[in-house]
Amino acid sequence: MNTSNNILNPNHESSEGAEKPAYDKAFAEDVRAGLQSEPKYLSSKYLYDKKGDAIFQQIMDMEEYYPTRCEYEIFELHKTEMLKNFTEEVKHFDLIEFGAGDGMKTKVLLRHFLEQKADFNYVPIDISANIVDTLTNDLNDNMPGLTVQGIVDDYFRAFDKLAPSKENTRKVVLFLGANIGNFDHQESIAFLKKVASYFIPGDRLVIGFDLKKDPQRILDAYFDRHDITKSFKLNLLERINRELGGNFKPDNFQYFPIYDPIEGAIRSHLVSKTVQEVYIKALDESFHFDAWEAMFMERSQKYSLQEIHQMAESAGFRCIHNFYDSREYFTDSLWTLA
Ligand code: AVI
Repeated sequence: MNTSNNILNPNHESSEGAEKPAYDKAFAEDVRAGLQSEPKYLSSKYLYDKKGDAIFQQIMDMEEYYPTRCEYEIFELHKTEMLKNFTEEVKHFDLIEFGAGDGMKTKVLLRHFLEQKADFNYVPIDISANIVDTLTNDLNDNMPGLTVQGIVDDYFRAFDKLAPSKENTRKVVLFLGANIGNFDHQESIAFLKKVASYFIPGDRLVIGFDLKKDPQRILDAYFDRHDITKSFKLNLLERINRELGGNFKPDNFQYFPIYDPIEGAIRSHLVSKTVQEVYIKALDESFHFDAWEAMFMERSQKYSLQEIHQMAESAGFRCIHNFYDSREYFTDSLWTLA
């Protein structure tokens, strides 16, 4: 999910005489919109620059952050049943992964599918060329016999590049790691409806949902003792400094996540510890923070089974099966068109 682009550079590049800003304009305008809003917010999609990707890797390795290990366990426990479902009534399937990352968990499935001599291609899709290249090279080196067709693009533009499903084949789309939880409800439904619009009957979608559980367990996953999640959030201020010429002082902000067990949402904030002005050169604009003013950073939604089924229905899908880890903290939910 790396969305980083250019570095703020005083030597503006020019192409055919046209001056192009040496920074990511969409990023700059999204930051402006967020800092002008009341309450202030920064979009969580910008957490994933190179440094953010590395910190997120540390989060996934943390004891407190259970979703990664849960999903790993789900694949170990249920890989046979999953393959049985993916190959039901077809000869070949394309295993398409949205936001593939380092493919750690998916490798459990890939290894099993190869051992079982399943007829399939693996299509990792990510906006970051670095992620797709690293994963493709890794798989070519370590899983000979696997056909990998990595695509560097937005998920839906990537879909357009894929050949339509033929008779006796199906698409199996993986959207893992509780990524759906970073969307709000409306965004989730819009996203899922769009996936449905690319599906033909028989195609499959596997989505990772973090389930509602002991609220303290959930909060601990986002409020770790080592302050790794805090540095993940503060890195976005540093990214604005690096890429847009901002002068945020990260030490002036307190990381403050809350969990609302009724809504089932972790909402993460950075709170200004003092009155301060922040100047952003790319926008040539200053932004005022009051003391203890909170800025919204990220939503991480947790779900009940009923909510998962309702969501499938609202987006035009039907839930075939939910696969659980041994503690039932997490589910990979298998859907097909209704
Ligand atoms: C990527 N996403 C599913 C993570 C989550 O759990 O919301 C991002 C994250 N933020 C803080 N910790 C992990």
